[in-house]
Amino acid sequence: MGVAGTTTAADAFLRYVNLSSVAGVEPIAVDHGSGAELWDVDGRRYLDCFAGISVVSTGHSHPRVVAAAREQMERFIHCGTYLYQVPVVGTLAERLAQVTPGRLEKTFFSNSGAEAVEGAMRLARAYSGKTEFIALETGFHGRTNATLAVTGNRKRKHHGGPYLGGVAFAPAPHPTRCRVCGGGCTLRCADAVEDVINYQTSGNVAAFIAEPVLGEAGIVVPHPEYFARVKEILDRHGILFIVDEVQTGFGRTGRMFGIEHYGVEPDIMTVAKGIASGFPLGGFIARPEIAESFQPGEHLSTFGGNPVACAAAVATLDVIADESLCENSARLGEWMLGHLEQLGATHPVIGEVRGKGLMIGVELVESRESMAPAAQRAVQVRAACRERGLIVGIGGFFGNVVRIQPPLVITEAQLDSAVGVLDEALRATA
Ligand SMILES: Cc1ncc(COP(=O)(O)O)c(C=O)c1O
Repeated sequence: MGVAGTTTAADAFLRYVNLSSVAGVEPIAVDHGSGAELWDVDGRRYLDCFAGISVVSTGHSHPRVVAAAREQMERFIHCGTYLYQVPVVGTLAERLAQVTPGRLEKTFFSNSGAEAVEGAMRLARAYSGKTEFIALETGFHGRTNATLAVTGNRKRKHHGGPYLGGVAFAPAPHPTRCRVCGGGCTLRCADAVEDVINYQTSGNVAAFIAEPVLGEAGIVVPHPEYFARVKEILDRHGILFIVDEVQTGFGRTGRMFGIEHYGVEPDIMTVAKGIASGFPLGGFIARPEIAESFQPGEHLSTFGGNPVACAAAVATLDVIADESLCENSARLGEWMLGHLEQLGATHPVIGEVRGKGLMIGVELVESRESMAPAAQRAVQVRAACRERGLIVGIGGFFGNVVRIQPPLVITEAQLDSAVGVLDEALRATA
């Protein structure tokens, strides 16, 4: 027997989509979007400063992305990227080889970030013949079993274990909340990676995995020398570096990839989110000698590298270049950080403002003396912003960080209005 029909699609969404694991769906029934704006089914307009969790890099339904996807859809939608030679997938892989740092060259395409990280971990094991991993406390890499195993956050891991063995965690390089450095980074957190190798592993470590800016941890930007120091330790121990660029890639931090801020060459890179402006696509990219260590038949994905998503990704890369979106992200990110810091002068609830490019976190605290996280206030501020037509995210290890990660096509005038709304929302919830 089926069920009786519901009145509207929005009602059906709330009744039949399993939302029990979700921390709170926003009461916005989305109708359409354009650039950095979204409209709900009642015609109300919102400025979107979260971009579907940092995804819609070129804005909602960018005409060039839509045209590229439509053109590919009219040819064919799916045939199996790992069964046939699909030209648009080749074009995208070549473009990725051109824009990624160092000798990264060969991409395996997946559908999501978690799948990309799982694949990268498997590849690291295949290449090195070693089995263990080192990850960062508070780091986040996805919601499948292996990616949760390298995620350093007990809330995210709840109900998922027991996890893959052989994962050790190094302290997160948090400039103000670091467990080893305390306030003001002394890079002892980087040196601690060697202690982790020596004291917590059997020495059989395949790879160290980290985000260049820790997104889900609350937009945490490591010290400028952190990754160079860690890489030197990894090289001495023959351990690969997997950089997880799922959230930081494709201009989000003001450079094409977050690791470029650190001048370090990763061995494997994972990508997803912003790659195709909202089409589901992920991938892991490696140097040829690493990439080719999979044996025939070992790794595959039915939908991975879907041609429509790949066509959208090629158009996304074109738009990022032609509309100077990395530069826009860098310039407007600086502008936004400055204006948010000014807000801090009148709102003591702001404990810290941090970020790179258009990946910005505003940490809310009970007081600057205690720095106790004010998570409930973050929920209230998000609601107050929404009531005023502004969408922001919340996140962070303590759930007290307001996240500003808009489409990279956002304008200074739009960000100016976002600062004004945030100011009002902070006052209204004081
Ligand atoms: C750094 C990082 N890695 C991996 C993932 C997982 O990506 P997905 O949700 O596409 O599986 C995320 C998602 O937020 C992420 O931020």
